[in-house]
Amino acid sequence: MADLDDLRDGVNFGLGQKVENQSFYLKGCDHLDWGIKDRLSRIFRKESGRTVMLAFDHGFIMGPTSGLERIDLNILPLAEHADCLMATRGIIRASVPPTYNKPICLRSDAGTTILTDLNDNVVVDVQDAVRMNASAMAVMLAIGDEKTEAKTVANLTHAVDMGQKFGVPVMGVTAVGKDMARDARYFGLASRVCAENGANIVKTYYCEGFSNVVAACPVPIVIAGGKKLPELDALDLCYKAINDGASGVDMGRNVFQSEDPIAMIQAVAGVVHEGLTPQQGFEMFQDLKK
Ligand code: 5RP
Repeated sequence: MADLDDLRDGVNFGLGQKVENQSFYLKGCDHLDWGIKDRLSRIFRKESGRTVMLAFDHGFIMGPTSGLERIDLNILPLAEHADCLMATRGIIRASVPPTYNKPICLRSDAGTTILTDLNDNVVVDVQDAVRMNASAMAVMLAIGDEKTEAKTVANLTHAVDMGQKFGVPVMGVTAVGKDMARDARYFGLASRVCAENGANIVKTYYCEGFSNVVAACPVPIVIAGGKKLPELDALDLCYKAINDGASGVDMGRNVFQSEDPIAMIQAVAGVVHEGLTPQQGFEMFQDLKK
């Protein structure tokens, strides 16, 4: 029975105080649904508007590559320094404790490995992403690959349809194939196609003229790191990408294959969130290195 005695009437209605409209802090995301914004705000820090995502989904195409032999030993010690973990459902369920309470960007397409032709993929069931409380789903888009382009666009479209239905953002991951030019024209086209098809985040690669790629993509872009580089060069890559407008990184090998991954992820975060120069980031790396 509801309490009816001592029912206090409201007195403080803030009359004369305008209700401010609340704009969302990420590019192109103002008109998204509340659930999608809530999930995005778990991935991108409010203070910087940026993210350091740790990518360790490589095993689904290349098996136990260097630095990913033992997720419990190689990756879990890095998790506290990452804003978001990007991996497959198999690895997350088997090796990442749910008590970490870290946002997950779930690798949500699968199909072929480096042993055959890549990108002939299907999309995992969005209900499993929801069941895992994923903060985003990542789906590959292989533009310019005659055999798989249409299929990967269809995969992305399907993921966006399902993501909209359940409030889960989708990250479009631009593929780089053997025959694809790695330049601003290609990455600009691929990133824009991701956004046009409804991706809420785009993951692509840094290149010459990257500021044009970012300018023409109406949603936040994060960069992959690519093959392992010397630490200073990898920090330089992060710095240039952020300077050109990227909203963060989704980096793997340049972190987990570093001579000191824990020091490296903190240095990357210094560049991404705190505006450190590559040299300052490198000094931080050396100070933290065991
Ligand atoms: C490939 C991916 C990888 O996660 C991506 O390449 C990030 O890793 P790295 O920084 O090692 O390139 O999404 O589809």
